[in-house]
Amino acid sequence: MATLLRALHFLILLYVSNIPLAFAQDENQFIYNGFKQAKLHLDGTAVIHSNGLLQLTNISYQQVGRAFYQFPIKFNTTSPTLTSSLSFSTNFVFAMVPQVQNFSGHGIAFTISPTRDFTHATTNKYMGLFNSSNNGLPGNHILAIELDTAANPEFGDIDKNHVGIDVNGMKSVESAPAKYFTDKEGKNISLELMSGNPMHLWIDYNEAETLLNVTLAPTRIPKPSRPLLSRHINLSQILLESMYVGFSSATGQLASYNYILGWSFNQSGPSQSLEISRLPPLPRQGKGAKPGPEIITSLIAVALVLITVTGAAYILRRNKYEEIREDWEEEYGTHRFSYKSLHKATKGFKDTELLGEGGFGKVYMGILASSNVQIAVKRVSHDSKQGMKEFVAEIVTMGRLRHRNLVQLLGYCRRRGELLLVYDYMPNGSLDKFLYSNENPNLNWFQRFRIIRGVAAGLLYLHEEWEQVVLHRDVKASNVLLDAELNGRLGDFGLAKLYDHGTNPQTTHVVGTVGYLAPELSRTGKATTCSDVFAFGAFMLEVACGRRPIELQAQGVILVDWVSECWRREAILDASDPRLEGNYVVEEMKLVLKIGLFCSHALPTARPSMRQVMQLLDGDADLPEVPHDSAFGPLASSESSDFMTFPFTLSSAPSMCTTDSILKSGR
Ligand SMILES: *[C@@H]1O[C@H](CO)[C@@H](O)[C@H](O)[C@H]1NC(C)=O
Ligand SMILES: *[C@@H]1O[C@H](CO)[C@@H](O)[C@H](O)[C@H]1NC(C)=O
Ligand SMILES: *[C@@H]1O[C@H](CO)[C@@H](O)[C@H](O)[C@H]1NC(C)=O
Ligand SMILES: *[C@@H]1O[C@H](CO)[C@@H](O)[C@H](O)[C@H]1NC(C)=O
Repeated sequence: MATLLRALHFLILLYVSNIPLAFAQDENQFIYNGFKQAKLHLDGTAVIHSNGLLQLTNISYQQVGRAFYQFPIKFNTTSPTLTSSLSFSTNFVFAMVPQVQNFSGHGIAFTISPTRDFTHATTNKYMGLFNSSNNGLPGNHILAIELDTAANPEFGDIDKNHVGIDVNGMKSVESAPAKYFTDKEGKNISLELMSGNPMHLWIDYNEAETLLNVTLAPTRIPKPSRPLLSRHINLSQILLESMYVGFSSATGQLASYNYILGWSFNQSGPSQSLEISRLPPLPRQGKGAKPGPEIITSLIAVALVLITVTGAAYILRRNKYEEIREDWEEEYGTHRFSYKSLHKATKGFKDTELLGEGGFGKVYMGILASSNVQIAVKRVSHDSKQGMKEFVAEIVTMGRLRHRNLVQLLGYCRRRGELLLVYDYMPNGSLDKFLYSNENPNLNWFQRFRIIRGVAAGLLYLHEEWEQVVLHRDVKASNVLLDAELNGRLGDFGLAKLYDHGTNPQTTHVVGTVGYLAPELSRTGKATTCSDVFAFGAFMLEVACGRRPIELQAQGVILVDWVSECWRREAILDASDPRLEGNYVVEEMKLVLKIGLFCSHALPTARPSMRQVMQLLDGDADLPEVPHDSAFGPLASSESSDFMTFPFTLSSAPSMCTTDSILKSGR
């Protein structure tokens, strides 16, 4: 009796005291209304704010933040007893706050794992839990409930706003778009996970029924009676004796602030309810701010109304044209465009002015009011400050590049989460539209050869003729634009680099386009003049053959392999674009196809330099005779003894692979 009383006393004390503390006696259950003094193990970007808010990620990209309860939870996997030892129940309140609307990270995963060591896991779509080789393996013993804000088709994701049950990998065994059931009206209402608003998630597993229920709701309503996901699943093969519970959250090319406000867990009964009013407020959201006396509140309200009325027009105007300018940008004055001028030029970025949408963002056509000059404005979303200074320095440097076969970059403008790049307008659009769509007239061989030669000259200028080495990093037909005279001009140089900044050097993250990526790139992750030459080779073949480097429809036929096959059959002209109907200069066609193969050599240093390519195209040097039975083109490798390299000392020294030097040499 005495012990019972003492226990009761203890419980009352606990209830009365306002300490957000775990039940010290029982590590299989805890509740945190805010995480002050919480027993958590944090890693990556995870931090606990002084008000008790747990922040898993910030807006840096390619990051992971994790928080696990410090002690392992004991699950009885061997001898099922009356107390349903695999059952558990948990609920938590989370919020995901995008820096820019609809631009999110990869979400949050509630995780049960045998280990807290995730050093081998990768960020992005693997959410800091798996990597490409262990994803899906039964040996992982990981159960995760994902709040997924990115759609990855390879995992069968249904959309970029769903809740899923993941067993040992990122492919969900069950998922549903985020929504909740209202008991009052009896209907389902959609929720946007990335809205920035706090939301409540309950996860309950009942071992006897082998039923896993996941229930979502906004924080203002109690737990709905109907779960979002309800799945029969036997966890006996998944959970081990000793498991850690916690959260993992990852950012990718885009990022958001992901938070956990409170968390309750119980392994031997329903988890306690969180006290929503006691949860820490989110930064700059205004929620949970102390309400002042009513008089002050109404005074403030009156003042606000006055300010709003008198200043509305002004404020509206200002916000509309808001942009970011920092001190260090002063020196770039002439390259800096005001957002207002670009907004005007493009008629407010109207859809009718949209020229196209590339890998980096939408491109709009515009006319500058001040000069009547036609421009193209590319809007690139860029959430991070990382590397921005270097990148702007580079843009300005690139603005100084001038060549008749480059699309002139005129300048830039920065806004929150966005970079706008201003280019010369190219009236004929991109080359791939001529090659593959029937809307545009077919290009004849004379035009094609001139485009190839022009692009080669532009790339040679970037590699060797300017004061520093500049890499393009993404040579391809859709990055070649045609001016009024149908001259080919290379665009988008160096943009790929923007996406290289801020990435983890340990993950070999390759920027570029499949089919144009040199084989060594996936190994080293380092772009060089030689990897640009590889992409240029793929481009030449593309123009001559009228086919994409990898034809996805035709079972992934690789163009280079096919051309080298034609060459081995001593019928290289079979590879020429049938739409030319044989109307081409045979010697030029052969030349282009062969140079394309040389550029595709597996060994980077065996490829010709752009100067050598130029000399060959201009007829200032002759291609050597290559025997048809030798390994040539992509099949040649450093291992085969008789492989053909490009050993022909034309005029300049043999090829050397150079990385670009803009960043290294500074300004
Ligand atoms: C995000 O967090 C990491 C690690 O705490 C820090 O290095 C980085 O500067 C932060 N980024 C931003 C944008 O706050
Ligand atoms: C954000 O996404 C939602 C749903 O995916 C869509 O309805 C909304 O228009 C988007 N907002 C913006 C600014 O793109
Ligand atoms: C994936 O993770 C496992 C450990 O879980 C590790 O052994 C393996 O080397 C990792 N693979 C890669 C490609 O990082
Ligand atoms: C779950 O699976 C284990 C072994 O695979 C089995 O012994 C157990 O009976 C199963 N539980 C239920 C409730 O079916």
